[in-house]
Amino acid sequence: MKILDVPEETWQLRSGLNVYLRPLQSTDLALHWGLFYRCSRQSLFQRFFQLPDCQKITDADVERFTNFDRSRELAITAVQYPSQVEELGVVRLAHLGGGSAEFALIVADPWHRQGLGRKLLEKAIEVARFQGLQSLEGYVLSSNQPMLKLCRRLGFEVSYADGFYEVQLALNGSAN
Ligand SMILES: CC(C)(COP(=O)(O)OP(=O)(O)OC[C@H]1O[C@@H](n2cnc3c(N)ncnc32)[C@H](O)[C@@H]1OP(=O)(O)O)[C@@H](O)C(=O)NCCC(=O)NCCS
Repeated sequence: MKILDVPEETWQLRSGLNVYLRPLQSTDLALHWGLFYRCSRQSLFQRFFQLPDCQKITDADVERFTNFDRSRELAITAVQYPSQVEELGVVRLAHLGGGSAEFALIVADPWHRQGLGRKLLEKAIEVARFQGLQSLEGYVLSSNQPMLKLCRRLGFEVSYADGFYEVQLALNGSAN
């Protein structure tokens, strides 16, 4: 099964800033570089479970996030609208087989607490449901209370697994 379709839309942060939600393209390399630089070390750690050395990140590293197997993965990005020159956040979905997909989410620090993390995760859930997936799962560090709170609010089941939490949402789809 392919995870390909993302309904694009404009949306407004609590601050009033407009963003455009669309699939991340392989041509978004420069845009995606910018996202990393607007994330704090703590946010990067919470997303990647390790601390990437920003001084040592290469084009090839960033390219892995923009140039991926689009038959089984997708990334939904939120870019400033209408300029589309800055990326504020991104949610990724990777099909795991068996009707399930894994998600990962990050919002750059200047735009935290403006509803974007929730919006991106809701969008990922919507796409996964539309694709007929049965469940969505992710991994959250035990220190990451904001993300755990967000997941609980969206109905994810949260279970502890040795230093991190596994979060899982049943979607009741019919894909396999
Ligand atoms: C977790 C993260 C995605 C939240 O994004 P965000 O855009 O700031 O979140 P939102 O504004 O949509 O908040 C949604 C809800 O999450 C919870 N939340 C978010 N940040 C919070 C914080 N700092 N403290 C407490 N609750 C928080 C709240 O319930 C919030 O709802 P509310 O604002 O109505 O109270 C963001 O902090 C982030 O990118 N963190 C680093 C990467 C990461 O942790 N990724 C998760 C691993 S997959």
